[in-house]
Amino acid sequence: MRSSMRVLAREHLALRALARIIALEAELLGRDGRADLVLLQDIATYIGEFPNRIHHPKEDDFLFRHMRARDPARCGAIIDRLQTEHLKEDESIANFLAALQAVSAGEPGAAAGLAQVAASYAKHLLGHIEAENTLVFPLAEEVLQEDDWAEIDAAFAANDDPLVGAQPGARFSDLHRRIMAMGAMPPGL
Ligand SMILES: [Fe+2]
Ligand SMILES: [Fe+2]
Repeated sequence: MRSSMRVLAREHLALRALARIIALEAELLGRDGRADLVLLQDIATYIGEFPNRIHHPKEDDFLFRHMRARDPARCGAIIDRLQTEHLKEDESIANFLAALQAVSAGEPGAAAGLAQVAASYAKHLLGHIEAENTLVFPLAEEVLQEDDWAEIDAAFAANDDPLVGAQPGARFSDLHRRIMAMGAMPPGL
């Protein structure tokens, strides 16, 4: 597996695990109005600061850019869809954080609001990752050439994600433990 694809695969596994946690917490919230708010806050903060600042922009600037340049006819439509989703990410996380804040402030109806925001965010995130994994990555293998890959691999080698990087950061250590305990990250990937 190309080194950039390995980084992307690891980051997608972590994001998928986080989406599963968000969906589960949304279900608990919907059922009895309670959830692990600290965990949800950690997840929303992490996604806002790392995947949304590093992961998705690097897909845009390196992988998607080269794919579109090599074969716009085959790559254009799916990349348009995913880039539109990338553009909405900041707003989605801001909504998520606002819904969390409303629950912390004890606003009426806030738990049901958060349950709905969290469930729809988890579904959106899983769909986004699924489309990249099953549609874009196989297409990338077909259309990209060696010099494209050299640039893409170098760009992703610099990623230092606190959940999946070589040195998991202390700041998100609880989140890291949680996704490792879920068996979300196979050793050696
Ligand atoms: Fe993406
Ligand atoms: Fe991605």
